[in-house]
Amino acid sequence: MDRLKGKKILIAITGGIAAYKAPELIRLFIKSGCDVWAAVSENACRFVQPLTLETLTGRPVLLDDFTLLDGGKIPHIEASAWCDLMVVAPATGNIIGKTAAGIADDLISTLLMAASRKPVLFAPAMNSRMYLNPIVKRNLNTLRESGYYFIGPDEGEMACGEEGIGRLADLSCIVEKVKDIFTEKDLRDITILISAGPTQEPIDPVRFITNRSSGKMGYALAKAAKRRGGRVILVSGPTSLSVPKEGITLIRVKTALEMEREIEEHFPYSDIVIMAAAVADYRTDTPFPQKLKKSDKAFQLELVRNPDILYTLGKEKTRQTLVGFAAETENFEENALQKIRDKNLDLIVVNNVSLPDAGFEVDTNRIMLIDRFGKTRKYPLQSKDDAADAILDKIIKIRKKTKGEKGPS
Ligand code: PMT
Repeated sequence: MDRLKGKKILIAITGGIAAYKAPELIRLFIKSGCDVWAAVSENACRFVQPLTLETLTGRPVLLDDFTLLDGGKIPHIEASAWCDLMVVAPATGNIIGKTAAGIADDLISTLLMAASRKPVLFAPAMNSRMYLNPIVKRNLNTLRESGYYFIGPDEGEMACGEEGIGRLADLSCIVEKVKDIFTEKDLRDITILISAGPTQEPIDPVRFITNRSSGKMGYALAKAAKRRGGRVILVSGPTSLSVPKEGITLIRVKTALEMEREIEEHFPYSDIVIMAAAVADYRTDTPFPQKLKKSDKAFQLELVRNPDILYTLGKEKTRQTLVGFAAETENFEENALQKIRDKNLDLIVVNNVSLPDAGFEVDTNRIMLIDRFGKTRKYPLQSKDDAADAILDKIIKIRKKTKGEKGPS
């Protein structure tokens, strides 16, 4: 149930160097199941070949407003009525200014004027001195107040060699923002605390004990909860993943003890807590201060138990909906039910980590949800993004069912 499946996206590309990224953006939308139609300004054609866009989208590229479409249809009327959403990427200072001033004198500006009843997302990209120009700022504010959506720009090195704010937002963040716009905000005003990734338990300054968790499942949950309007706090062990800065507070930790400290700090005011992290059950009591030297003798490492964070939360829980994960290889239901009881959970997500397309590291998962009433549902293979939405759907149902018991939060 990808939120973008079947959505019709009209991409308007205006004339900045970042236009060279537009084909990749189109590819990402198509990969998410969208039908894409591209419109290019005259200047954007200097940076990106219409043939490339046409090949990717499978539709004739809109180049000007005076070449009528089949049946004598007018491009800006036809395309703006066709789309579910319009993305302007990259959006130059010029098109932002024209839209703010109500000018419609070329293909892209007339498309924007005609798309007045559709959601429109601008992804500005320009030199930082242009972006910070008070006139551009004023135009951006005018558009924001009129209900236009924005993503970026990002900071960093720009095509002109200068550093600053003005880079086109990360392409995956643009897609994420569009998903956001289409998503019902059923977690609005709800605080969701999520743990993700592995923990690293140091042995000496260069070695540690860890596991195969990539963080993908927990990060997918954080992004989905944010899309659905939640206030998200993500406590993450070491991963190479990123999340949109807007709407997700990312707290990075390394060890189980650090994770416990952060989770405990944010637990009291959270409404939903999801422990997707693979927390190491053991650690060395005191890591060796210097790098261990090898010798010919066998070497024994003494480990002590880490606290079971979820178990403690189960004891402390008041109004929170508490969700655990179970990474299992056998006796799935039996082990999961035991965890629900032991840790006082409302829901457990069981993943069969013995399968190559589920559990650790991969982009997909096969989950089974078991709630505290013993109700079980198995899901087929799906992306971790879809699994995250299925888990959140179930949490919302449980919260509705138990509202009377726990009181609204
Ligand atoms: O990160 P990915 O590569 O996407 O992989 C996803 C995942 C397989 C890591 C994830 O979906 C998952 O199953 N996470 C929980 C793994 C795990 O630690 O399972 P467990 O059965 O050992 O623990 C049960 C629950 O107790 C978990 O919610 C865990 O977060 C929690 N726990 C465990 C140990 C501990 N010391 N403290 C805890 O809070």
